This record gives sequence, C-alpha cells and structure tokens, in this order.
Amino acid sequence: MPGDGIGKEVIPVALEVVRATGAPVTFTEFDWSADRYLKDGTTIPADGFEMLGRDFDAIFVGALGDPRVKTNIHAKEILLGMRFKMDLYANVRPVKLIDPALCPLKNVTPEMVDFTVIRENTEGVYMDMGGVFKKDTPDEVATQEDINTRKGVERVIRYAFDYARKHGRKKVLMADKSNVMSYAGGLWQKVFKQVATEYSDITPQHLYVDALCLQMVREPQSLEVVVTNNMFGDIITDLAAALQGGLGMAASGNIHPGKTSMFEPVHGSAPPLAGKNVANPMGAILSAAMMLEHLGFGAEGRKIEEAVTSAVRDKKLTTDVGGSYLSNEVADYISKKVSSSQ
Ligand code: NAD
Ligand code: IPM
Ligand code: MN
Repeated sequence: MPGDGIGKEVIPVALEVVRATGAPVTFTEFDWSADRYLKDGTTIPADGFEMLGRDFDAIFVGALGDPRVKTNIHAKEILLGMRFKMDLYANVRPVKLIDPALCPLKNVTPEMVDFTVIRENTEGVYMDMGGVFKKDTPDEVATQEDINTRKGVERVIRYAFDYARKHGRKKVLMADKSNVMSYAGGLWQKVFKQVATEYSDITPQHLYVDALCLQMVREPQSLEVVVTNNMFGDIITDLAAALQGGLGMAASGNIHPGKTSMFEPVHGSAPPLAGKNVANPMGAILSAAMMLEHLGFGAEGRKIEEAVTSAVRDKKLTTDVGGSYLSNEVADYISKKVSSSQ
C-alpha cells in the first residue's frame, strides 16, 4: 500500500530490494490513498480490514497524508484504522545508528545508539474521545481523553519484556508523565511493576518522558528497550529518528503476535519531496527487512540490513543524509548488493 507522496516512490523501490533477496513472497497492491479518496470517496473499502487479516500475512505501507485532504480523514481511516481495527498493539521502532557520520551528536559510535522503542499503538489520546462545548464562542471548551486500559497497558508492557528477552537485552525502561497525569500514569506504574516481577532476568527502569528526551540525547548508550504510551511514543521516535540520521532512516512494525501485522517507515508523505525521486528509501527498505524477519525470512532480512549498511559506508546516500544520489539510485545499489550476497 504505497499511499501518498513519497510513499509512492519508496515502496516500489523497497519491493525491488525484497525481490532481490529471493524470499518467496508475493505482493498485491492496493491504491488506498488520497488519490483514491479524491476520486471516489473511498478510504477503506467495506470489509477492507477483514480482507487484509484473512488474505495476507503482512502489510507494507508507505505513508498517508496529503495537503489536498485537509481533514486527513483518509489517513486516519486507513493508517490508524489498520492499527486500531486490526489491533496491532505494539509499534516496534528500532533506533540504530549505522554510521557515526549520520548522527548529529558528537563522538557517538554505532554501538552507542542501539535501542528499541515499543509504543502502545491502540489507545491513549489517539482514540479521539472528547468533545467541544460552546463552540466558536469566547467560552469554548475542548476536551481530549487519554484512554488507558488495564489490558492494553499490560499487553504492551509484556511485549516489551518479551522483546527484551528475545533480543538479549537486559533492561526495559517505562516512560510516562505520572507526576502530572496521575490516573493514567498510576495505571502504567502499577502494571509495569507487576509485570516486571515475572522477568527476574531483566532490570525494570523508569523515567519521566521529558527526562527520557534528555537521556536520549546525552546518553543514548544507556537505553535498551523503552516502552511508553501512544503519544509519547510518537514524539520520542521522531527524536530517536534524528539520532539515526533523520526520518528517512527510521523503520517500524505495527505488530500483534499471531495476526497480520503492518510494516512502514516512520516518516510521512513529505509533500515537498514528492514526485522528485529524492526521498531517502532506507526507512522503507529497513521496514521491509523487519517484515521479512517477522515472516520467518530472517536470513533475507539480515541481507537487506547488511546491504543498507554497505550503502551508508560507501556513501550511496540521498541528500537528507548528506549524499548526492537519487532515491532509485540508492535503492538499486542496495538491490545489487543483496543480489550479489546470494
Ligand atoms: P514527514 O515525515 O512527511 O516529514 C518531516 C520532515 O522529514 C520533512 O522535512 C521531510 O522532508 C523529511 N523527510 C521525511 N521522510 C523523508 C525521507 N524518506 N527522505 C528525506 N526526507 C524525509 O512529516 P510531516 O511533514 O509532519 O507530515 C507530512 C504528511 O505526512 C502529513 O499529512 C502527516 O500527517 C503525514 N504523516 C504520515 C505518517 C504515516 O503515514 N505513517 C507519518 C508521519 C506523518
Ligand atoms: C507516525 C505518524 C502518525 C502517528 C500520524 C500520521 C497519525 O506520526 O506513525 O508516527 O501519529 O502515529
Ligand atoms: Mn509520528
């Protein structure tokens, strides 16, 4: 599902890289996007989510968001629709620096930026619950509810501890703002402490999310696995993307173990770059690698990661990360590296 803007450029070239691995996967393309919405009013066709869950093993998405659709309704219904209605509760966003040259911090090596954010993906303020009262008067009131369920908080925290175990990590840090948001934060605190007792091999840690932002910049090497709510996870993963070289480098998976999961770069549709063949395809390509690993093609996924690392070391980069190559040139280089590593 390429979607909008640069999604329509980075997804096709990332698929070429997947094909170069030889992994036995087949793709079906869907045109759900702003173009489709503006043409016939469709965001998600009837039973669209059921069809995705029934007929596919994974979903690969570019980006959704288009200045022509002021309400952003199509992006909400398609992107957030998949996350919520398909119950993809763990948004896994690895933060990995491939080369020191990409990091805006001084004296930072790749070993020092290597952690994963597990973002709750189905609750929080994203539920868009709330309302307005006395609209368009001087007394207007707006409320926005932050929804945190015991089950929702527990499953994502458990996911973070399981993820840490599976990846040989020793620390899980929960970030909240329980000093201010005492009801929601209270639930996160209580559940985190309870779940942590089941994982005696892993050290639980806590920081307020503002302090975590400081820590991410000053001492990224102290972080291994971070778990947090939907909104904080959204914000800190843009900051985290900057540590890796920018949004063009960042990959993600929207996961519900055992169900059809969705993989997408962290970046959006970048309207000013769209149609120019200049967008960095690496975030999309690394998301494809995550998808292959999730589907059981770990060796193929690793080949892609190694090829991206070679492209970075050989300076085959788009302009956002200091290079001078076009989007498809970078992707072709990576595809060739993948093919030659068969
Ligand atoms: P954005 O990620 O599109 O762009 C932010 C900045 O990063 C811009 O300077 C852009 O040029 C740069 N950038 C992003 N991806 C890049 C890439 N691959 N290569 C080089 N530079 C890149 O975020 P935005 O500008 O806040 O949002 C634009 C639209 O995308 C909005 O409609 C927004 O809602 C939507 N959006 C969608 C998703 C998604 O589909 N997952 C994510 C974020 C934003
Ligand atoms: C992201 C994006 C989305 C979010 C937007 C486009 C709704 O910023 O995937 O990080 O807020 O989750
Ligand atoms: Mn975001």
